[in-house]
Amino acid sequence: MVVVTGSSSGIGEACAHAFAAAGAAVVVNSRSSVAEGEAVARAVGGTYVRADVATVEGAEALVAAALDAYGRIDVLVNNAGDTVKIPHADLDAATPEVWLRLYEANVVGPFVTTRAALPALREARGCVVNMSSLAGVRPVGSSIPYAASKAALNHQTRLLAATLGPEVRVNAVAPGLVETPWTADWAAEHAAVSAISPLRRVATPADVAHLVVALADATYTTGEVVLVDGGLALR
Ligand SMILES: NC(=O)c1ccc[n+]([C@@H]2O[C@H](COP(=O)([O-])OP(=O)(O)OC[C@H]3O[C@@H](n4cnc5c(N)ncnc54)[C@H](OP(=O)(O)O)[C@@H]3O)[C@@H](O)[C@H]2O)c1
Repeated sequence: MVVVTGSSSGIGEACAHAFAAAGAAVVVNSRSSVAEGEAVARAVGGTYVRADVATVEGAEALVAAALDAYGRIDVLVNNAGDTVKIPHADLDAATPEVWLRLYEANVVGPFVTTRAALPALREARGCVVNMSSLAGVRPVGSSIPYAASKAALNHQTRLLAATLGPEVRVNAVAPGLVETPWTADWAAEHAAVSAISPLRRVATPADVAHLVVALADATYTTGEVVLVDGGLALR
């Protein structure tokens, strides 16, 4: 049984489909796009739960609803996240409010959701897959607060992996640019990535979902942050 946060669109939706195709029951989640989330849940034969996973209350409600519906959690995919596009040189635009909002969404949210799911994950000897970013590995990305928040998520991944074994594995995937609603109007970035990345294209959400499912199946891997960037980090 798999919980995918932020799965009403984009990468999370693709993860819901990939886990369902592998035979898993899936809980689909979003904070505001209810009709879209319900449609994904119908498509994958799963259950939709509306909850804001950037908050303790929302994370706990999501886990409680998943346990009510299925009685166990084998995999938690902390995919929901947020960004703001700010040129890195514009330090004035990267206000403390932006920093706090992105840390809440990208660092605190995954932590409190993992914490809420931990008893169930321990019982199932399950795993967590966090949705990081190439921006958390290399000094690139939509803004400095976003990139720094994903770097913090990468270290959270390693710290929790070191802490939660042997029962629970914790890994992260770090995509480069992915074709989702989030990046729909980033034409210049799409062109640049297609021009310079060794695989000469932007990722599809399914490219990322394949790796998430593979990490969930990787029974002797924990604490890893795995790039899925078409080789972009090599440039
Ligand atoms: N697209 C890329 O190029 C790219 C690259 C690297 C990493 N990523 C990461 O991939 C993840 C998904 O991005 P995406 O591109 O697939 O975005 P997307 O298509 O905009 O999907 C984001 C999903 O998260 C949900 N969501 C956002 N905040 C939430 C919250 N607090 N609680 C519950 N659900 C929430 C959204 O629904 P509602 O807004 O209705 O709640 C939506 O279902 C993010 O963590 C992002 O940092 C994306």
